[in-house]
Amino acid sequence: MKSLVILISGGGSNMAAIVRAAQARDWAGRWGAKVTAVISNRPEAAGLTFAREQGLATAVVDHRDFAHASQPREAFDAALHAEIERHAPDLLILAGFMRILTPGFVAHYAGRLLNIHPSLLPAFPGLHTHARAIAAGCRFAGATVHEVTAELDHGPILAQAVVPVLPQDTEAQLAARVLTQEHRIYPEAIEAWLQRHTPQP
Ligand code: GAR
Repeated sequence: MKSLVILISGGGSNMAAIVRAAQARDWAGRWGAKVTAVISNRPEAAGLTFAREQGLATAVVDHRDFAHASQPREAFDAALHAEIERHAPDLLILAGFMRILTPGFVAHYAGRLLNIHPSLLPAFPGLHTHARAIAAGCRFAGATVHEVTAELDHGPILAQAVVPVLPQDTEAQLAARVLTQEHRIYPEAIEAWLQRHTPQP
């Protein structure tokens, strides 16, 4: 059975969409895969509550605990890596995980590390994507599922969804419209990844 581990930092609505899709589409039966753990870098992440209610294993690796290490990012990533490896993931899924990962961490999971970003990459990597799209006068915005590589918000694109930017849109309105599409394309992209990595009879 393939192990899917999901990393979150906040609300976890993408994680919930993936968990629900896995249940509805019976990934265990079709692709031999199931979500084995949800791990957050923030103990207060609301998504942890949903995951616990679903009976999933959860864990917290709080990045603030490593602030005083000589190399905070490396120390945090080492602790995160150790927690992830307890669940032996075949696929590691970043779902609203708001930490920049070290090159060594990314290299370890190369080819089996996915992210969703709330813009039409390569446009608007980084933060505040919706405000930047509105400020730039974009007529369309969207979301991208991609493989994670060492360069932030780059890496091979696996799926995208496009939504219109409406004339009076606020950042929150555009974010909500994009998020609805994220919940559709992330499970689809994961399902396609599983299909590609499952031997066909
Ligand atoms: C989502 O919009 C996701 O694309 C974005 O954070 C939100 C998390 O929502 N991720 C990034 O900005 C990563 N750079 P969620 O916690 O409800 O899934």
